[in-house]
Amino acid sequence: MKATYPLAFCLLAVLAAGFGATRLSSRERPAPAKAQKTAQKPAAAAAGNQSQIDRGKYLVENVGMCEECHTPRDSNGNIDESRRLQGAAIWIMPVHPMTNWAMRAPALAGLPGFTDAEAETVLEQGVGPNGLPIQPPMHIYHMAPADAQAIVAYLRSMPDTYPRD
Ligand code: HEC
Repeated sequence: MKATYPLAFCLLAVLAAGFGATRLSSRERPAPAKAQKTAQKPAAAAAGNQSQIDRGKYLVENVGMCEECHTPRDSNGNIDESRRLQGAAIWIMPVHPMTNWAMRAPALAGLPGFTDAEAETVLEQGVGPNGLPIQPPMHIYHMAPADAQAIVAYLRSMPDTYPRD
């Protein structure tokens, strides 16, 4: 260990001399401030992202009620919280038969199989990635882009652990 210190100092001295001669101005620039700036950026972005995710969670759970259809139910018909938004068989039927009634709601946790833009179009226009209107009983939402983006951020933040069949 002791023997490595002089070696390290030598190396540092050589590096400092080399850089010092040519890049004095850049070395004089306050490096700590620069480092602080780059360190703060991701933290601020993460904080912004977290508040967007929190808002998306609220919209999913309390406004859009996505779990009503996208989370499987247990044998008593209650939403199975251990499989949140993992995709589910549709449990409601129309009073009058509808030819385009969908029988399954896809998994949303982790938003597998959708780009952000595709999922946002679903929520803003009610149009699927195939360009066709979303089938009932999925609602045709006309969400504001900020709401759709918050929902997408939340769904992406969820672990995509649903079992593939
Ligand atoms: C009343 C039941 C119901 C509710 C509530 C519901 N969905 Fe759906 N959702 C469905 C069904 C059924 C489908 C399949 C429809 C289809 O294939 O066109 C679907 C499809 C989707 C799709 C895929 C569309 C496609 O074309 O592949 C997305 C994304 C989606 N839902 C997101 C959501 C979100 C986010 C919410 C809450 C804001 C929500 N859904 C609420 C029933 C529902």
